[in-house]
Amino acid sequence: MKDLFDKIYKDKGPLGKWASQAEGYFVFPKLEGEIANRMKFRGKDVITWSINDYLGLANHPEVRKVDAEAAKQHGSAYPMGARMMSGHTYLHEQLEKELAAFVNKEAAYLLNFGYQGMVSTVDALVSKNDIIVYDVDSHACIIDGVRLHMGKRFTFKHNDMESLEKNLDRASKMAEQTGGGILVISEGVFGMRGEQGKLKEIVALKKKYNFRLFVDDAHGFGTLGKTGAGTGEEQGIQDEIDVYFATFAKSMASTGAFIAADQEIIDYLKYNLRSQMFAKSLQMQLVVGALKRLEMLRTMPELKENLWTIVNALQSGLKDHGFDIGNTSSCVTPVYLKGSIPEAMALVKDLRENYGIFCSIVVYPVIPKGMILLRLIPTASHTLEDVEETLNAFDAIRDRLENGTYKRLSAAVSAAMGD
Ligand SMILES: Cc1ncc(COP(=O)(O)O)c(C=O)c1O
Repeated sequence: MKDLFDKIYKDKGPLGKWASQAEGYFVFPKLEGEIANRMKFRGKDVITWSINDYLGLANHPEVRKVDAEAAKQHGSAYPMGARMMSGHTYLHEQLEKELAAFVNKEAAYLLNFGYQGMVSTVDALVSKNDIIVYDVDSHACIIDGVRLHMGKRFTFKHNDMESLEKNLDRASKMAEQTGGGILVISEGVFGMRGEQGKLKEIVALKKKYNFRLFVDDAHGFGTLGKTGAGTGEEQGIQDEIDVYFATFAKSMASTGAFIAADQEIIDYLKYNLRSQMFAKSLQMQLVVGALKRLEMLRTMPELKENLWTIVNALQSGLKDHGFDIGNTSSCVTPVYLKGSIPEAMALVKDLRENYGIFCSIVVYPVIPKGMILLRLIPTASHTLEDVEETLNAFDAIRDRLENGTYKRLSAAVSAAMGD
């Protein structure tokens, strides 16, 4: 019989197999200094385009003050136990009321982490007779939630309404037989390429099909919509989103998350969300910190305005310089280039070491072979000088990519990878 660990000794997995070449640099890099537009990477100053601190709150003096005071007052333990047992407080409730009001829903419920919360919410919303129809490009937390589902599930092609309809058709026929209902899941903003989910078109299909819509708006919350209430507000269909989700890990620059829906649905989820029933309540310092951040989202529209000044300057600058930024319709700014994985590694190294630009890099199998995706996350704490410097650096690296510099530089890497 095999030792369970045999496979681990032999195969480190699709990402793990690159660890010896990539760790500490391309993966698990250590960005140092306070969270800001410029930080240090391996002792050098870099412009950071890879942190989802959209509204620049992470290091805002008022936020830092409230966080510090809350930590002093409550420590990191309080309250102890799950919400249901001994971890419930007035402030948890207050935050839920304020979050619900902000996203125009009747009620909200806090989640300790977005990821587990999403998994658990999908799990709680469906029973084995129900059918899930979800966008094929969904975030891992949606996919993992769907994995728990004992019944049928269908994917629809990314943001493709024809494919969604086809699958709704199949799901409706199946639901007639099983006696279940249909849950459609989409993201508000797809975090890799920055496209908004076609929520308006999805909810239009409610006229024809009977389903409920669950939206993961991790990247839309705080950044889109007139008041920052997210992608539903942006597209004018917030009321049609049956269950709304957002995390505190992006615009709110913290930890935690929430779901919002009609009171009766939240009341049900409170008693059925296993990630909350069987886990310690969100720490008080995070609750107090979230109340402060939410107040700032409500009362300081300049945060979102500053963010969009940078987003517009960066995205129009990239387009003017002839870069392909795909179909982004959010702050997430992808730049598509052509090249192999070793070329991509040499290019990113050049960007970081010689141009002081730190952004995330995505390659095959996440995107098609031969493509390189550099993902930039603009924030309210960036400056127009950061944008200018970045555009100039991008011009330079594109020249070097096209004149074969990275091919030459990457030859050693390629050899090591057996390419
Ligand atoms: C689309 C999306 N959903 C959910 C999550 C998970 O949220 P959290 O970091 O709060 O676990 C993320 C990442 O933060 C995300 O990008």
